[in-house]
Amino acid sequence: MKIIAGNSNLPLAQAISDYLEIPLAKATIKRFSDMEAFVEIQENVRGEDVFVVQSTCYPANDNLMELLITIDALRRGSARRITAVIPYFGYARQDRKTGGRTPISAKLVANLITAAGVDRVLTLELHAGQIQGFFDIPLDNLIVGPVFVPEIEKRFAGKESQLVIVSPDVGGVVRARALAKRLDADLAIIDKRREQAGVSEVMNVIGHVEGKICLMVDDIVDSGGTLCNAAQALMDQGATAVQAYVVHGVLSGAAVDRISKSKIERMVITDSIPATDAVKNASNIEQLTVSRLMGEAIRRISNEESISALFI
Ligand code: R5P
Repeated sequence: MKIIAGNSNLPLAQAISDYLEIPLAKATIKRFSDMEAFVEIQENVRGEDVFVVQSTCYPANDNLMELLITIDALRRGSARRITAVIPYFGYARQDRKTGGRTPISAKLVANLITAAGVDRVLTLELHAGQIQGFFDIPLDNLIVGPVFVPEIEKRFAGKESQLVIVSPDVGGVVRARALAKRLDADLAIIDKRREQAGVSEVMNVIGHVEGKICLMVDDIVDSGGTLCNAAQALMDQGATAVQAYVVHGVLSGAAVDRISKSKIERMVITDSIPATDAVKNASNIEQLTVSRLMGEAIRRISNEESISALFI
């Protein structure tokens, strides 16, 4: 087995390599002066089971292109099997036509990755499970439960009866319900209406949150608008504290500043996207690693063992 790291998330790739006790394969991934990407794998991959770790986070287009070119280099180097390990799958929110003459970019990205020559994909908490169907090759979509659940159980030991798991929008109910079930906690839902693209508005809290510690669960925090507005709504309804557990910390623009000034006491994200300095310096944002989860999934794929057994 060989692991190759793209440039998008070197700390996570290194942590996965440490977990598997397999050093990262030597590869040069660099840019020509006109910013075209160039990849050279500097060790033999003929007949190898190769995993390329690359999040298609900001800058999404560069990171995606780097992934495609790396896959091409591996295919031409006669790797036996190539798995794209994409901890954060960018473009996933563009998973349907939202109007006339608009693209389904998530499907296009799936086509590009498949056409580049990958044999399978390993990813984490896809924005919508249906995106798996955009690929006609095997795709494993890991869920974050094994990372979030033990942390929540430890942190809120003795306060279990005060916890309510909250989905900050209707689209995230399945994810929140699964976590609530594992924690044996109640569920609440925010009915969010987005009147304008990029602007979110909280309308209603469905469920009982008064006197409760609310843990909001979401797949992505981008501008932070959804979570900050939801936190305000929960406090208005009498919650005693609001925290957030979010898989992918996209955190674009002024998101970190917005979250630090919000009613969110503490937000936990994972390292599917590397932390910027602003994230590292934020007093109410913490990062948990998914390296063990992803590393174990890689080990199981390579050994042809069950992935679903990871979530029992
Ligand atoms: C929406 O469907 C997603 O699950 C997230 O809630 C959304 O992408 C968060 O975006 P923002 O932080 O910009 O409100």
